[in-house]
Amino acid sequence: MSLALGSSASSANSAGANSGAAEGVASAARSLAVALLDAAVGFRGAQGAVWEHLNLQLRSGEFLTLLGPSGCGKSTVLRVMAGLQPLTQGRINRPAMAPAFVFQEPALLPWASLQDNVALPLRIAGQKPEATVARVQAVLSRVGLQGAEHRLPHELSGGMRMRASIARALVMQPDLLLLDEPFAALDDPTRQRLQADLLQWWQAESFALCFVTHQVAEAVFMSTRVAVMSAHPGRIAHEFQISEPYPRTDAFRESSRFHELCVAIGQALRGKALTR
Ligand SMILES: Nc1ncnc2c1ncn2[C@@H]1O[C@H](COP(=O)(O)OP(=O)(O)OP(=O)(O)O)[C@@H](O)[C@H]1O
Ligand SMILES: [Mg+2]
Repeated sequence: MSLALGSSASSANSAGANSGAAEGVASAARSLAVALLDAAVGFRGAQGAVWEHLNLQLRSGEFLTLLGPSGCGKSTVLRVMAGLQPLTQGRINRPAMAPAFVFQEPALLPWASLQDNVALPLRIAGQKPEATVARVQAVLSRVGLQGAEHRLPHELSGGMRMRASIARALVMQPDLLLLDEPFAALDDPTRQRLQADLLQWWQAESFALCFVTHQVAEAVFMSTRVAVMSAHPGRIAHEFQISEPYPRTDAFRESSRFHELCVAIGQALRGKALTR
């Protein structure tokens, strides 16, 4: 299927951001993970829709970040994509068979070991404990938690707990990974390490990723595309392609291009006319 990207949005190309024809063709060739079409969500008793006329699509291998003011409906977008929240209008095309959700709080079972926490989705899917060991070990090793299998959540640092939460999502080999402000509670160096690691995990697998943050720099550093939402009702106000190749390095973080992207996206967030 084809869908105009952010048809309710104005696309903004920043200096150096290559969102030209070649990229469009490459992106169209990737398989669709999820698409919202003229979609709306409202809650009983609430005045008006949380968001409406929302068009957003995500393809395999894409890293899409949602930015927007508190309450504009970012988490609601993720819940809809996960199938946890019905639409009140419009349509969702969800070929993604195995979405996985990572919440802001790691939400680990406090009485269960790291191994058992990460194995939980496999156990819920009906696998016997002994059948989960190899897969859990592989994922723990991928997220840098090998050797900590028998620790309880309170014996892990905040960064380790978030790694565990991401491991619990990766263990199901998702085709769509949804992350809702996963690094918000972490200190800056831990956050930057996890950003780099998440990019590696995403690059090593072919899942589509939808990420929510309030940090513009985090969005620019990580994403292939940034969608800026506005509120009351929520809309996709602007989309930015971030064409910087991966792996992304500190040199990108310190470049003028990075700074220009941050300024343009910051302006979009404040509802200002874009200067480029
Ligand atoms: N189950 C619910 N019942 C009623 N209203 C809800 C429900 N869930 C969310 N809302 C409302 O929908 C709006 C959007 O909520 P959502 O959590 O998606 O916003 P957000 O953009 O993620 O905000 P934040 O940046 O603060 O996390 C808010 O006004 C919220 O109060
Ligand atoms: Mg939220």
